[in-house]
Amino acid sequence: METKTTVISPEEIRRQNAICGEIREYWAAQGVTPLAFVDTYGCQQNEADSERIRGMLVEAGYALTDTEEGADVIVLNTCAIREHAEQRVFGNVGALVHTKRRHPRQKIFLCGCMMGQPAVSDRIKHSYPHVDGVFSTHHLWEFPALLLRVLKTGKRVFAVEDSAGSIAEGLPVARTNKLKAWVSVMYGCNNFCSYCIVPYVRGRERSRLPEEIYRECEDLIAAGYKEITLLGQNVNSYGKDLGIGVDFADLMAHIAELDGDFRLRFMTSHPKDASFKLFDTIAKYPKICKQFHLPFQSGNDRVLKEMNRHYTREQYLRLVDYGRSLMPDLVLTSDVIVGFPGETEEEFEDTISLIERVRYDALFTFIFSPRGGTPAAKMADPFTKADKNRRFDRLCAVQNGISEEKHRAYVGKTLRVLIDGRDGELLTARTDGGRLVRLAGGDELIGRFADVRIDGCTTWSLTGRLCKGSE
Ligand code: SAH
Ligand code: SF4
Ligand code: F3S
Repeated sequence: METKTTVISPEEIRRQNAICGEIREYWAAQGVTPLAFVDTYGCQQNEADSERIRGMLVEAGYALTDTEEGADVIVLNTCAIREHAEQRVFGNVGALVHTKRRHPRQKIFLCGCMMGQPAVSDRIKHSYPHVDGVFSTHHLWEFPALLLRVLKTGKRVFAVEDSAGSIAEGLPVARTNKLKAWVSVMYGCNNFCSYCIVPYVRGRERSRLPEEIYRECEDLIAAGYKEITLLGQNVNSYGKDLGIGVDFADLMAHIAELDGDFRLRFMTSHPKDASFKLFDTIAKYPKICKQFHLPFQSGNDRVLKEMNRHYTREQYLRLVDYGRSLMPDLVLTSDVIVGFPGETEEEFEDTISLIERVRYDALFTFIFSPRGGTPAAKMADPFTKADKNRRFDRLCAVQNGISEEKHRAYVGKTLRVLIDGRDGELLTARTDGGRLVRLAGGDELIGRFADVRIDGCTTWSLTGRLCKGSE
Protein backbone atom coordinates (compact mmCIF):
# COMPACT_ATOMS: atom_id res chain seq x y z
CA MET A 1 0.00 0.00 0.00
CA GLU A 2 1.23 3.50 -0.91
CA THR A 3 2.16 5.37 2.28
CA LYS A 4 3.54 8.69 1.14
CA THR A 5 1.31 11.75 1.26
CA THR A 6 1.15 13.88 -1.87
CA VAL A 7 1.44 17.57 -1.09
CA ILE A 8 -0.25 19.48 -3.87
CA SER A 9 2.03 22.33 -4.87
CA PRO A 10 0.99 26.01 -4.79
CA GLU A 11 1.56 26.13 -8.58
CA GLU A 12 -0.90 23.30 -9.08
CA ILE A 13 -3.49 25.08 -6.91
CA ARG A 14 -2.94 28.24 -8.95
CA ARG A 15 -3.46 26.18 -12.12
CA GLN A 16 -6.80 24.94 -10.76
CA ASN A 17 -7.75 28.54 -9.96
CA ALA A 18 -6.91 29.55 -13.51
CA ILE A 19 -9.14 26.73 -14.75
CA CYS A 20 -11.97 28.23 -12.66
CA GLY A 21 -11.40 31.39 -14.74
CA GLU A 22 -11.75 29.35 -17.94
CA ILE A 23 -15.02 27.86 -16.71
CA ARG A 24 -16.29 31.36 -15.94
CA GLU A 25 -15.47 32.42 -19.51
CA TYR A 26 -17.13 29.31 -20.90
CA TRP A 27 -20.42 30.36 -19.28
CA ALA A 28 -19.99 34.09 -19.92
CA ALA A 29 -19.65 33.33 -23.65
CA GLN A 30 -23.14 31.83 -23.48
CA GLY A 31 -24.51 34.73 -21.41
CA VAL A 32 -25.50 32.37 -18.62
CA THR A 33 -25.02 32.46 -14.82
CA PRO A 34 -24.80 28.73 -14.11
CA LEU A 35 -26.32 27.16 -11.00
CA ALA A 36 -24.65 24.60 -8.73
CA PHE A 37 -26.17 22.24 -6.18
CA VAL A 38 -23.90 20.45 -3.69
CA ASP A 39 -25.47 17.83 -1.45
CA THR A 40 -23.57 16.36 1.48
CA TYR A 41 -23.94 12.99 3.20
CA GLY A 42 -21.97 11.77 6.20
CA CYS A 43 -19.82 13.50 8.76
CA GLN A 44 -18.27 16.94 9.37
CA GLN A 45 -15.25 15.99 7.28
CA ASN A 46 -17.53 15.73 4.30
CA GLU A 47 -19.25 19.01 5.24
CA ALA A 48 -15.83 20.66 5.30
CA ASP A 49 -14.95 19.13 1.92
CA SER A 50 -18.26 20.34 0.46
CA GLU A 51 -17.43 23.88 1.54
CA ARG A 52 -14.29 23.61 -0.58
CA ILE A 53 -16.23 22.18 -3.52
CA ARG A 54 -18.68 25.09 -3.25
CA GLY A 55 -15.71 27.47 -2.99
CA MET A 56 -14.30 26.14 -6.26
CA LEU A 57 -17.72 26.38 -7.94
CA VAL A 58 -18.22 29.99 -6.82
CA GLU A 59 -14.72 30.75 -8.12
CA ALA A 60 -15.78 29.19 -11.42
CA GLY A 61 -18.74 31.58 -11.65
CA TYR A 62 -21.53 29.34 -10.37
CA ALA A 63 -24.34 30.62 -8.16
CA LEU A 64 -25.30 28.15 -5.42
CA THR A 65 -28.82 26.75 -5.29
CA ASP A 66 -30.50 24.36 -2.87
CA THR A 67 -32.30 22.14 -5.33
CA GLU A 68 -31.29 19.66 -8.04
CA GLU A 69 -34.03 21.01 -10.31
CA GLY A 70 -32.49 23.25 -12.98
CA ALA A 71 -28.95 23.06 -11.54
CA ASP A 72 -26.19 23.11 -14.18
CA VAL A 73 -23.94 21.04 -12.00
CA ILE A 74 -24.89 18.67 -9.18
CA VAL A 75 -22.26 17.32 -6.81
CA LEU A 76 -23.22 14.57 -4.38
CA ASN A 77 -20.56 14.24 -1.68
CA THR A 78 -21.15 10.71 -0.43
CA CYS A 79 -20.58 8.68 2.76
CA ALA A 80 -19.70 4.98 2.99
CA ILE A 81 -19.83 4.44 6.73
CA ARG A 82 -22.94 2.24 6.77
CA GLU A 83 -24.93 0.39 4.14
CA HIS A 84 -27.95 2.59 4.69
CA ALA A 85 -25.92 5.71 3.80
CA GLU A 86 -24.87 4.10 0.51
CA GLN A 87 -28.36 2.95 -0.37
CA ARG A 88 -29.67 6.48 0.03
CA VAL A 89 -27.03 7.76 -2.38
CA PHE A 90 -27.78 5.11 -5.00
CA GLY A 91 -31.50 5.91 -4.71
CA ASN A 92 -30.92 9.63 -5.12
CA VAL A 93 -28.49 9.19 -8.02
CA GLY A 94 -31.05 7.01 -9.79
CA ALA A 95 -33.68 9.73 -9.43
CA LEU A 96 -31.38 12.28 -11.07
CA VAL A 97 -32.06 10.65 -14.47
CA HIS A 98 -35.33 12.60 -14.44
CA THR A 99 -33.93 15.99 -13.36
CA LYS A 100 -31.29 15.67 -16.08
CA ARG A 101 -33.93 14.86 -18.66
CA ARG A 102 -35.73 18.09 -17.74
CA HIS A 103 -32.44 20.06 -17.93
CA PRO A 104 -30.20 18.27 -20.45
CA ARG A 105 -27.12 20.43 -19.95
CA GLN A 106 -27.00 19.34 -16.31
CA LYS A 107 -23.69 17.70 -15.28
CA ILE A 108 -23.68 15.23 -12.41
CA PHE A 109 -20.63 14.52 -10.24
CA LEU A 110 -20.25 12.04 -7.40
CA CYS A 111 -17.42 12.34 -4.91
CA GLY A 112 -16.58 11.56 -1.29
CA CYS A 113 -15.93 8.36 0.61
CA MET A 114 -18.12 5.98 -1.41
CA MET A 115 -16.11 6.82 -4.50
CA GLY A 116 -12.94 5.56 -2.84
CA GLN A 117 -14.29 2.01 -3.24
CA PRO A 118 -13.50 0.53 -6.68
CA ALA A 119 -16.68 -1.61 -6.60
CA VAL A 120 -18.77 1.55 -6.24
CA SER A 121 -17.06 3.60 -8.95
CA ASP A 122 -17.33 0.57 -11.30
CA ARG A 123 -21.03 0.26 -10.56
CA ILE A 124 -21.48 3.97 -11.33
CA LYS A 125 -19.49 3.59 -14.54
CA HIS A 126 -21.58 0.70 -15.81
CA SER A 127 -25.05 1.23 -14.39
CA TYR A 128 -25.46 5.00 -14.06
CA PRO A 129 -24.52 6.45 -17.46
CA HIS A 130 -26.11 9.81 -16.62
CA VAL A 131 -23.33 10.47 -14.08
CA ASP A 132 -20.66 12.62 -15.78
CA GLY A 133 -17.85 12.55 -13.25
CA VAL A 134 -16.60 10.62 -10.24
CA PHE A 135 -13.72 11.56 -7.95
CA SER A 136 -12.48 10.21 -4.64
CA THR A 137 -11.47 12.39 -1.68
CA HIS A 138 -7.81 12.29 -2.79
CA HIS A 139 -8.76 14.09 -6.01
CA LEU A 140 -10.95 16.84 -4.58
CA TRP A 141 -8.43 19.59 -5.34
CA GLU A 142 -8.61 18.86 -9.10
CA PHE A 143 -12.37 19.22 -9.38
CA PRO A 144 -12.07 22.39 -11.58
CA ALA A 145 -10.00 20.49 -14.17
CA LEU A 146 -12.46 17.57 -14.14
CA LEU A 147 -15.44 19.88 -14.52
CA LEU A 148 -13.89 21.80 -17.41
CA ARG A 149 -13.06 18.55 -19.20
CA VAL A 150 -16.65 17.38 -18.91
CA LEU A 151 -18.01 20.75 -20.09
CA LYS A 152 -15.67 20.91 -23.09
CA THR A 153 -15.67 17.28 -24.24
CA GLY A 154 -18.97 15.93 -22.94
CA LYS A 155 -17.02 12.79 -21.98
CA ARG A 156 -17.23 11.14 -18.57
CA VAL A 157 -14.29 11.44 -16.15
CA PHE A 158 -13.21 9.09 -13.36
CA ALA A 159 -10.49 10.24 -10.94
CA VAL A 160 -10.46 7.43 -8.44
CA GLU A 161 -6.92 6.02 -8.36
CA ASP A 162 -6.02 5.03 -4.84
CA SER A 163 -3.20 6.79 -3.00
CA ALA A 164 -2.05 7.46 0.54
CA GLY A 165 -3.85 10.79 0.22
CA SER A 166 -3.11 14.39 -0.53
CA ILE A 167 -2.91 17.71 1.28
CA ALA A 168 -3.99 20.75 -0.68
CA GLU A 169 -3.68 24.19 0.95
CA GLY A 170 -5.21 27.35 -0.44
CA LEU A 171 -8.36 25.97 -2.06
CA PRO A 172 -11.21 28.49 -2.11
CA VAL A 173 -13.91 27.85 0.48
CA ALA A 174 -17.56 28.91 0.61
CA ARG A 175 -18.67 28.40 4.21
CA THR A 176 -22.32 27.67 4.83
CA ASN A 177 -22.52 29.04 8.36
CA LYS A 178 -21.50 32.58 9.26
CA LEU A 179 -20.81 31.84 12.95
CA LYS A 180 -19.42 28.35 13.13
CA ALA A 181 -16.54 27.04 11.06
CA TRP A 182 -14.92 23.64 10.52
CA VAL A 183 -11.15 23.51 10.33
CA SER A 184 -9.58 20.18 9.35
CA VAL A 185 -6.32 19.69 11.17
CA MET A 186 -5.57 16.32 9.65
CA TYR A 187 -6.95 13.88 7.12
CA GLY A 188 -7.20 10.12 6.88
CA CYS A 189 -6.92 7.40 9.50
CA ASN A 190 -4.37 4.69 10.33
CA ASN A 191 -6.38 2.78 12.88
CA PHE A 192 -8.18 0.17 10.81
CA CYS A 193 -10.85 -0.57 13.39
CA SER A 194 -12.06 -3.90 12.05
CA TYR A 195 -15.59 -2.67 11.19
CA CYS A 196 -14.65 0.63 9.58
CA ILE A 197 -14.29 1.68 5.95
CA VAL A 198 -12.75 5.12 6.59
CA PRO A 199 -9.02 4.17 6.39
CA TYR A 200 -9.67 2.52 3.01
CA VAL A 201 -11.42 5.51 1.48
CA ARG A 202 -9.65 8.44 3.12
CA GLY A 203 -6.07 7.24 3.08
CA ARG A 204 -3.32 7.49 5.68
CA GLU A 205 -3.11 10.01 8.50
CA ARG A 206 -1.58 13.29 7.41
CA SER A 207 -1.44 16.53 9.38
CA ARG A 208 -1.64 20.05 8.08
CA LEU A 209 1.22 22.31 9.13
CA PRO A 210 0.45 24.24 12.33
CA GLU A 211 1.10 27.61 10.60
CA GLU A 212 -1.57 26.84 8.00
CA ILE A 213 -4.07 25.95 10.73
CA TYR A 214 -3.23 29.06 12.81
CA ARG A 215 -3.60 31.27 9.75
CA GLU A 216 -6.99 29.80 8.90
CA CYS A 217 -8.19 30.25 12.52
CA GLU A 218 -6.91 33.84 12.70
CA ASP A 219 -8.72 34.67 9.45
CA LEU A 220 -11.94 33.12 10.77
CA ILE A 221 -11.78 35.06 14.03
CA ALA A 222 -11.05 38.30 12.16
CA ALA A 223 -14.07 37.58 9.94
CA GLY A 224 -16.29 37.37 13.04
CA TYR A 225 -16.65 33.59 13.42
CA LYS A 226 -17.61 32.67 16.99
CA GLU A 227 -16.97 28.96 17.02
CA ILE A 228 -14.22 26.88 15.46
CA THR A 229 -14.36 23.09 15.42
CA LEU A 230 -11.07 21.35 14.72
CA LEU A 231 -11.63 18.18 12.72
CA GLY A 232 -9.84 14.88 12.27
CA GLN A 233 -10.78 11.17 12.47
CA ASN A 234 -8.38 10.86 15.38
CA VAL A 235 -7.18 14.32 16.38
CA ASN A 236 -4.90 12.85 19.06
CA SER A 237 -2.60 11.58 16.31
CA TYR A 238 -2.14 15.13 15.08
CA GLY A 239 1.49 15.98 14.32
CA LYS A 240 2.91 12.46 14.63
CA ASP A 241 3.67 12.40 10.90
CA LEU A 242 5.19 15.90 10.93
CA GLY A 243 7.83 15.15 13.54
CA ILE A 244 8.11 18.77 14.64
CA GLY A 245 7.19 18.28 18.27
CA VAL A 246 3.70 19.82 18.12
CA ASP A 247 0.90 17.56 19.34
CA PHE A 248 -2.86 18.18 19.33
CA ALA A 249 -2.90 19.66 22.86
CA ASP A 250 -0.16 22.14 21.83
CA LEU A 251 -2.10 23.04 18.71
CA MET A 252 -5.30 23.70 20.67
CA ALA A 253 -3.48 25.68 23.33
CA HIS A 254 -1.99 27.96 20.68
CA ILE A 255 -5.39 28.58 19.05
CA ALA A 256 -7.06 29.11 22.44
CA GLU A 257 -4.52 31.85 23.14
CA LEU A 258 -5.49 33.82 20.02
CA ASP A 259 -7.25 37.10 20.75
CA GLY A 260 -10.95 37.39 20.04
CA ASP A 261 -14.38 36.41 21.25
CA PHE A 262 -14.72 32.81 20.10
CA ARG A 263 -14.85 29.27 21.38
CA LEU A 264 -13.05 26.16 20.29
CA ARG A 265 -14.26 22.58 19.83
CA PHE A 266 -12.77 19.46 18.33
CA MET A 267 -13.68 15.98 17.13
CA THR A 268 -12.96 13.08 17.14
CA SER A 269 -10.70 11.57 19.76
CA HIS A 270 -9.65 7.94 19.82
CA PRO A 271 -9.40 6.69 23.43
CA LYS A 272 -6.17 4.82 22.72
CA ASP A 273 -4.40 8.13 22.02
CA ALA A 274 -6.34 10.58 24.22
CA SER A 275 -3.83 11.95 26.71
CA PHE A 276 -4.18 13.39 30.19
CA LYS A 277 -2.37 16.40 28.72
CA LEU A 278 -5.31 16.98 26.40
CA PHE A 279 -7.71 17.04 29.37
CA ASP A 280 -5.35 19.42 31.19
CA THR A 281 -5.40 21.74 28.17
CA ILE A 282 -9.20 21.71 27.95
CA ALA A 283 -9.44 22.50 31.65
CA LYS A 284 -6.91 25.32 31.42
CA TYR A 285 -8.38 27.43 28.61
CA PRO A 286 -11.77 29.13 29.00
CA LYS A 287 -12.14 29.30 25.21
CA ILE A 288 -12.02 25.52 24.84
CA CYS A 289 -15.51 24.07 25.29
CA LYS A 290 -15.85 21.67 28.17
CA GLN A 291 -17.12 18.90 25.95
CA PHE A 292 -15.39 15.70 24.96
CA HIS A 293 -16.61 13.31 22.28
CA LEU A 294 -14.87 10.07 23.15
CA PRO A 295 -16.25 7.08 21.20
CA PHE A 296 -16.12 3.85 23.21
CA GLN A 297 -17.90 1.53 20.70
CA SER A 298 -18.30 -1.31 23.22
CA GLY A 299 -18.05 -1.82 26.97
CA ASN A 300 -16.65 -5.34 26.64
CA ASP A 301 -12.93 -6.13 26.37
CA ARG A 302 -13.27 -9.13 24.05
CA VAL A 303 -15.39 -7.12 21.62
CA LEU A 304 -13.03 -4.13 21.83
CA LYS A 305 -10.16 -6.46 20.92
CA GLU A 306 -12.09 -7.89 17.96
CA MET A 307 -12.82 -4.32 16.91
CA ASN A 308 -9.05 -3.63 16.96
CA ARG A 309 -9.55 -0.63 19.23
CA HIS A 310 -6.39 -1.02 21.37
CA TYR A 311 -7.84 -0.03 24.74
CA THR A 312 -9.72 -1.79 27.50
CA ARG A 313 -12.85 -0.80 29.36
CA GLU A 314 -10.66 -0.03 32.38
CA GLN A 315 -8.34 2.26 30.42
CA TYR A 316 -11.32 4.04 28.93
CA LEU A 317 -12.89 4.62 32.33
CA ARG A 318 -9.59 5.93 33.69
CA LEU A 319 -9.63 8.66 31.03
CA VAL A 320 -13.22 9.58 31.80
CA ASP A 321 -12.52 9.69 35.53
CA TYR A 322 -9.47 11.88 35.00
CA GLY A 323 -11.42 14.31 32.82
CA ARG A 324 -14.24 14.51 35.36
CA SER A 325 -11.83 14.96 38.26
CA LEU A 326 -10.52 18.11 36.54
CA MET A 327 -13.88 19.27 35.20
CA PRO A 328 -16.88 17.95 37.14
CA ASP A 329 -19.28 19.50 34.59
CA LEU A 330 -17.47 18.10 31.54
CA VAL A 331 -20.06 17.10 28.93
CA LEU A 332 -19.26 13.65 27.58
CA THR A 333 -20.65 12.24 24.35
CA SER A 334 -19.76 9.06 22.50
CA ASP A 335 -20.37 6.60 19.66
CA VAL A 336 -21.43 3.01 20.28
CA ILE A 337 -21.98 0.03 17.99
CA VAL A 338 -24.62 -2.59 18.82
CA GLY A 339 -24.46 -6.08 17.32
CA PHE A 340 -20.80 -6.35 16.34
CA PRO A 341 -20.39 -9.90 14.89
CA GLY A 342 -20.58 -12.46 17.67
CA GLU A 343 -21.39 -9.94 20.43
CA THR A 344 -23.24 -11.99 23.06
CA GLU A 345 -26.05 -10.90 25.31
CA GLU A 346 -23.62 -10.66 28.27
CA GLU A 347 -21.15 -8.62 26.24
CA PHE A 348 -23.94 -6.28 25.23
CA GLU A 349 -24.81 -5.93 28.93
CA ASP A 350 -21.23 -4.69 29.50
CA THR A 351 -21.97 -1.89 27.05
CA ILE A 352 -25.12 -1.00 28.97
CA SER A 353 -23.27 -1.03 32.29
CA LEU A 354 -20.56 1.24 30.86
CA ILE A 355 -23.22 3.71 29.72
CA GLU A 356 -24.79 3.63 33.17
CA ARG A 357 -21.40 4.11 34.82
CA VAL A 358 -20.28 7.04 32.61
CA ARG A 359 -23.72 8.64 32.18
CA TYR A 360 -23.13 10.35 28.84
CA ASP A 361 -24.97 13.52 27.97
CA ALA A 362 -25.70 12.10 24.53
CA LEU A 363 -24.80 9.06 22.45
CA PHE A 364 -24.62 8.36 18.74
CA THR A 365 -25.90 4.81 18.48
CA PHE A 366 -25.32 2.50 15.51
CA ILE A 367 -26.23 -1.05 14.59
CA PHE A 368 -23.24 -2.85 13.07
CA SER A 369 -23.27 -2.65 9.29
CA PRO A 370 -20.90 -4.95 7.37
CA ARG A 371 -18.61 -2.99 5.01
CA GLY A 372 -17.06 -4.88 2.10
CA GLY A 373 -13.29 -5.23 2.44
CA THR A 374 -13.18 -4.79 6.23
CA PRO A 375 -12.22 -7.74 8.48
CA ALA A 376 -15.47 -7.57 10.49
CA ALA A 377 -17.56 -8.10 7.36
CA LYS A 378 -16.15 -11.65 7.17
CA MET A 379 -16.68 -12.52 10.84
CA ALA A 380 -19.26 -15.16 11.72
CA ASP A 381 -22.37 -13.82 13.39
CA PRO A 382 -25.00 -16.09 14.92
CA PHE A 383 -27.26 -13.22 15.99
CA THR A 384 -30.26 -12.09 13.98
CA LYS A 385 -31.33 -8.62 12.93
CA ALA A 386 -34.24 -8.91 15.37
CA ASP A 387 -31.77 -9.63 18.25
CA LYS A 388 -29.81 -6.54 17.33
CA ASN A 389 -32.86 -4.32 16.96
CA ARG A 390 -34.07 -5.39 20.38
CA ARG A 391 -30.69 -4.58 21.96
CA PHE A 392 -30.55 -1.29 20.11
CA ASP A 393 -33.98 -0.26 21.43
CA ARG A 394 -32.98 -1.19 24.97
CA LEU A 395 -29.75 0.79 24.73
CA CYS A 396 -31.58 3.85 23.38
CA ALA A 397 -34.12 3.66 26.19
CA VAL A 398 -31.34 3.55 28.81
CA GLN A 399 -29.54 6.50 27.23
CA ASN A 400 -32.72 8.54 26.76
CA GLY A 401 -33.45 8.16 30.45
CA ILE A 402 -29.94 9.42 31.30
CA SER A 403 -30.10 12.30 28.79
CA GLU A 404 -33.41 13.40 30.26
CA GLU A 405 -32.10 13.26 33.84
CA LYS A 406 -29.01 15.22 32.83
CA HIS A 407 -31.14 17.83 31.11
CA ARG A 408 -33.41 18.09 34.13
CA ALA A 409 -30.38 18.81 36.32
CA TYR A 410 -29.69 21.93 34.24
CA VAL A 411 -33.02 23.51 35.21
CA GLY A 412 -32.41 26.46 37.51
CA LYS A 413 -28.79 26.84 36.40
CA THR A 414 -27.30 29.69 34.37
CA LEU A 415 -25.34 28.60 31.30
CA ARG A 416 -23.30 30.51 28.79
CA VAL A 417 -24.55 29.95 25.24
CA LEU A 418 -23.83 31.04 21.70
CA ILE A 419 -27.09 32.17 20.09
CA ASP A 420 -26.86 30.70 16.62
CA GLY A 421 -30.20 30.96 14.84
CA ARG A 422 -33.95 30.85 14.93
CA ASP A 423 -36.39 27.96 14.84
CA GLY A 424 -39.92 29.35 14.42
CA GLU A 425 -40.87 31.57 17.38
CA LEU A 426 -37.74 30.92 19.40
CA LEU A 427 -34.03 31.57 19.10
CA THR A 428 -31.70 28.56 19.17
CA ALA A 429 -28.45 28.46 21.08
CA ARG A 430 -25.78 25.96 22.12
CA THR A 431 -24.17 25.69 25.50
CA ASP A 432 -20.46 25.20 25.93
CA GLY A 433 -21.24 21.50 26.21
CA GLY A 434 -23.15 21.51 22.93
CA ARG A 435 -26.66 21.21 24.43
CA LEU A 436 -29.46 22.86 22.44
CA VAL A 437 -31.28 25.70 24.21
CA ARG A 438 -34.38 27.53 22.93
CA LEU A 439 -35.20 31.01 24.16
CA ALA A 440 -37.27 34.06 23.30
CA GLY A 441 -35.54 37.08 21.76
CA GLY A 442 -34.92 39.19 18.69
CA ASP A 443 -32.77 38.34 15.68
CA GLU A 444 -30.22 40.97 16.71
CA LEU A 445 -29.03 38.50 19.37
CA ILE A 446 -27.94 35.91 16.79
CA GLY A 447 -24.15 35.64 16.84
CA ARG A 448 -23.82 36.75 20.50
CA PHE A 449 -22.65 34.88 23.54
CA ALA A 450 -25.08 35.28 26.44
CA ASP A 451 -25.94 33.88 29.87
CA VAL A 452 -29.22 32.01 29.92
CA ARG A 453 -31.19 30.78 32.91
CA ILE A 454 -32.52 27.31 32.12
CA ASP A 455 -36.20 26.94 33.01
CA GLY A 456 -37.33 23.76 31.25
CA CYS A 457 -36.19 20.66 29.38
CA THR A 458 -37.01 17.65 27.21
CA THR A 459 -34.85 14.60 26.36
CA TRP A 460 -33.35 16.51 23.46
CA SER A 461 -33.23 20.18 24.42
CA LEU A 462 -33.45 22.87 27.07
CA THR A 463 -35.47 26.09 27.28
CA GLY A 464 -34.30 29.23 29.00
CA ARG A 465 -34.47 33.00 29.50
CA LEU A 466 -31.80 35.53 28.77
CA CYS A 467 -30.22 36.86 31.97
CA LYS A 468 -30.53 40.64 32.18
CA GLY A 469 -27.38 42.50 31.17
CA SER A 470 -25.65 39.40 29.80
CA GLU A 471 -26.24 40.12 26.13
N1 SAH B 1 -12.97 8.38 13.68
C1 SAH B 1 -14.08 8.34 14.54
C2 SAH B 1 -15.30 7.69 13.97
C3 SAH B 1 -15.76 8.03 12.63
S1 SAH B 1 -17.08 7.06 12.07
C4 SAH B 1 -13.66 7.55 15.76
O1 SAH B 1 -12.91 6.61 15.66
O2 SAH B 1 -14.14 7.85 16.80
C5 SAH B 1 -18.36 7.47 13.25
C6 SAH B 1 -18.92 6.29 13.96
O3 SAH B 1 -19.58 5.43 13.07
C7 SAH B 1 -17.91 5.39 14.63
O4 SAH B 1 -17.47 5.90 15.85
C8 SAH B 1 -18.69 4.12 14.82
O5 SAH B 1 -19.42 4.14 16.02
C9 SAH B 1 -19.67 4.15 13.64
N2 SAH B 1 -19.33 3.14 12.63
C10 SAH B 1 -18.21 3.09 11.87
N3 SAH B 1 -18.26 2.01 11.07
C11 SAH B 1 -19.42 1.36 11.34
C12 SAH B 1 -20.04 0.17 10.84
N4 SAH B 1 -19.45 -0.59 9.92
N5 SAH B 1 -21.24 -0.18 11.35
C13 SAH B 1 -21.84 0.58 12.29
N6 SAH B 1 -21.31 1.71 12.79
C14 SAH B 1 -20.11 2.09 12.33
FE1 SF4 C 1 -12.84 4.32 11.63
FE2 SF4 C 1 -11.49 3.59 13.75
FE3 SF4 C 1 -10.43 5.34 12.06
FE4 SF4 C 1 -12.47 6.05 13.58
S1 SF4 C 1 -10.43 5.47 14.30
S2 SF4 C 1 -12.24 6.43 11.41
S3 SF4 C 1 -13.67 4.16 13.71
S4 SF4 C 1 -10.88 3.19 11.63
FE1 F3S D 1 -18.86 8.91 6.04
FE2 F3S D 1 -16.49 9.39 5.07
FE3 F3S D 1 -17.30 10.69 7.18
S1 F3S D 1 -17.40 7.41 5.27
S2 F3S D 1 -18.69 9.27 8.17
S3 F3S D 1 -18.21 10.81 5.19
S4 F3S D 1 -15.22 10.07 6.72
